[in-house]
Amino acid sequence: MKFFIDTANLQDIQEAQDLGVLDGVTTNPSLMAKEGIFGHDNVIAHYKKICEIVDGDISAEVIATDFDEIVREGEALAELHPNIVVKVPMIKEGVKAIRHFSDKGIKTNCTLVFSAGQALLAAKAGATYVSPFVGRLDDISTDGIQLIEQIVQIYSNYGYQTQVLAASVRHVMHLVQCAEVGADVVTCPLSVITGLLKHPLTDSGLKTFLADHAKGNK
Ligand code: E4P
Repeated sequence: MKFFIDTANLQDIQEAQDLGVLDGVTTNPSLMAKEGIFGHDNVIAHYKKICEIVDGDISAEVIATDFDEIVREGEALAELHPNIVVKVPMIKEGVKAIRHFSDKGIKTNCTLVFSAGQALLAAKAGATYVSPFVGRLDDISTDGIQLIEQIVQIYSNYGYQTQVLAASVRHVMHLVQCAEVGADVVTCPLSVITGLLKHPLTDSGLKTFLADHAKGNK
């Protein structure tokens, strides 16, 4: 299972990278805005900085919503670095653009996916990744993990190569459940990745080991 970090915060990206378990990064316009990254040139420069930190797939989202503009924007993003994955929304023009990018060998991440039908369409268009949003479904009392399971099953039925990238993963249990149902990738904040470290019995056990060791070394 691949771990992507879902942020545009360079410190968090570096920290996850230093942990040695990071496989890639996902960003979106909201995450860029959260870091105060505005304007075309600043956004492009920021993607380049992320690519310098992480040697893995980096999703860069298009802003355009019509086919020609998505293609223009996506091709320019893909030119930035071989690891850039063009993130395209699940809309009609987006699906057409994913097919175009796929035919040209440009990697894509189909975002804002909330149903199995949308995921099937993204796979048929040749998306590299599909991003179902687990947390946002849970927010409206719909089972996000069940959707991941359903998409994994459908892709397996037909041998689609599109990777299921569980997005909007908000806590450790989401991540573990995504692993249980066979998501290829999870993307989540740093706190979820570091949250995997935590167990009170680890803390108390280590405290005792160190204390016992200290007794023998007095
Ligand atoms: C996915 O790529 C999105 O950027 C992200 O996971 C959305 O998460 P949120 O619902 O916590 O904003």
